[in-house]
Amino acid sequence: MLEVSGLRKAFDGTEILRGVDLAIDRGDVLAVLGPSGGGKTTLLRCLNFLEQADAGTMTFLGQQMDMSAVSRRDIAAYRRHTAFVFQNFNLFSNKTAIQNVTEGLIVARKMPRAEAEERALAALERVGLADKKDAYPSHLSGGQQQRVAIARAVAGQPDVIFLDEPTSALDPELIGGVLDVIQRLAEDGMTMIVVTHEIGFARRVADRVLFMEEGRALACQETKAFFEEQKLERIQAFLRSLNRKEA
Ligand SMILES: Nc1ncnc2c1ncn2[C@@H]1O[C@H](COP(=O)(O)OP(=O)(O)O)[C@@H](O)[C@H]1O
Ligand SMILES: [Mg+2]
Repeated sequence: MLEVSGLRKAFDGTEILRGVDLAIDRGDVLAVLGPSGGGKTTLLRCLNFLEQADAGTMTFLGQQMDMSAVSRRDIAAYRRHTAFVFQNFNLFSNKTAIQNVTEGLIVARKMPRAEAEERALAALERVGLADKKDAYPSHLSGGQQQRVAIARAVAGQPDVIFLDEPTSALDPELIGGVLDVIQRLAEDGMTMIVVTHEIGFARRVADRVLFMEEGRALACQETKAFFEEQKLERIQAFLRSLNRKEA
């Protein structure tokens, strides 16, 4: 459904993405793992054109685009099919949970308010927060705020959701609830690319794993093979270091 090849991006002359290829089928979850600074966030931002790539070809829903030369119009059209969940939620602090969810539907999609509210409520129900619909972000825990952000993402009925370390800003006891919500979306067939350090979650939920380091995809393979038949010493060492942290 989404395929990218030869993705390159430099900041101030330093190459951060050095020719990344990836592909994801509809209904699949791709987990992106790898050490900090490896280019995972930049990759995800380029995929949603929050950063403009220097090179790369994207095929999305059968349509091919030069990622270095997309028009604002093409980006706007593309984003009707995608959603992005940020590490720090990015909610409007002066809007309630439901207003955060309806905002994009009403403003960007020109949806009538009543219809937007109906959709938003359904989305909040999906993340278990219908009872918090009128709460402001400051009155919600980090985990609840991130679930509102996920509701906002699903309310637009995207074809794919990009999630950048959705639980890494959370206190440990709040991580599980957010991962459960993402797992349920996966079980419902949502296509997702999720950057995460939660190895257990990746193992459980991802169909494939992409390992990024120094701007390159060192591996992109099925989850079981990635964890159980890993041949690359570098990746084995990375997984061992995470296990040590968890232990
Ligand atoms: N807007 C930017 N300007 C300059 N350098 C950046 C920018 N964004 C990211 N970088 C650099 O790119 C590298 C990869 O960053 P990032 O994509 O955030 O990696 P990761 O998400 O894997 O930790 C880092 O060295 C970071 O400093
Ligand atoms: Mg990052």
